[in-house]
Amino acid sequence: MDGNGRWAKKRGLPRKFGHREGAKNFKKISRHAKALGIKYITYYAFSTENWKRPQDEVDALMDLFDKYLDQIDGFLKEEFRIRFIGDLSKFTPKLREKMRQKEELSAKYDSITMIIAANYGGRDELAHAARLAAEDVKAGLIAPEDITEDYLQKKLYTEDIPNVDLIIRPGGEQRLSNFLIWQSAYAEYYFTDTLWPDFSKNDLEKAVEVYCERNRRFGGV
Ligand code: IPE
Ligand code: MG
Repeated sequence: MDGNGRWAKKRGLPRKFGHREGAKNFKKISRHAKALGIKYITYYAFSTENWKRPQDEVDALMDLFDKYLDQIDGFLKEEFRIRFIGDLSKFTPKLREKMRQKEELSAKYDSITMIIAANYGGRDELAHAARLAAEDVKAGLIAPEDITEDYLQKKLYTEDIPNVDLIIRPGGEQRLSNFLIWQSAYAEYYFTDTLWPDFSKNDLEKAVEVYCERNRRFGGV
């Protein structure tokens, strides 16, 4: 969800207004994704690197996160399954408890799974998976040769979530920025200069259409 800060700057507003607008858009786009029949949608809400931002911006993002965790109840009524991925231990106990609650209450739904990556980093996720593997070896549960791709896949924060088909990055940058690096190994990429708060239902449909025209070979011919 990139480009919130620039969206605000263009209007002479503080960056946090861009984040507020971006959060509103997250609701609109999620509902449209469900209407289009998308089964999984993952948002990069806050990265392991985003703590480097000025404290007042980090605080504004945390406040927004807290507010939106309450608003997720609306999505529960619409039968969205909610998941959080990332190193959640860095959030306050209050935020963590809210996240756990939403996951638990929505676990029974299967129309669309909405995954929110919060304090997420792909490298952090892989280091975490390696630690879990080392613990299994140390406990004598597995041998080093049992650490296969399938084994590691199940140690990721996304354990039971399928790999990524399409990455959409708004905001004009053409990079992955540590997002779902394992899961995106064979993803298709769609970049657009549109800033996230301006990213419309139509933009989502356009990205899906472009994706449908791609010929995916997964290393085959
Ligand atoms: C949103 O956009 C990313 C979040 C951390 C929520 P940015 O804050 O990166 O906006 P730009 O790139 O500065 O415009
Ligand atoms: Mg940015």
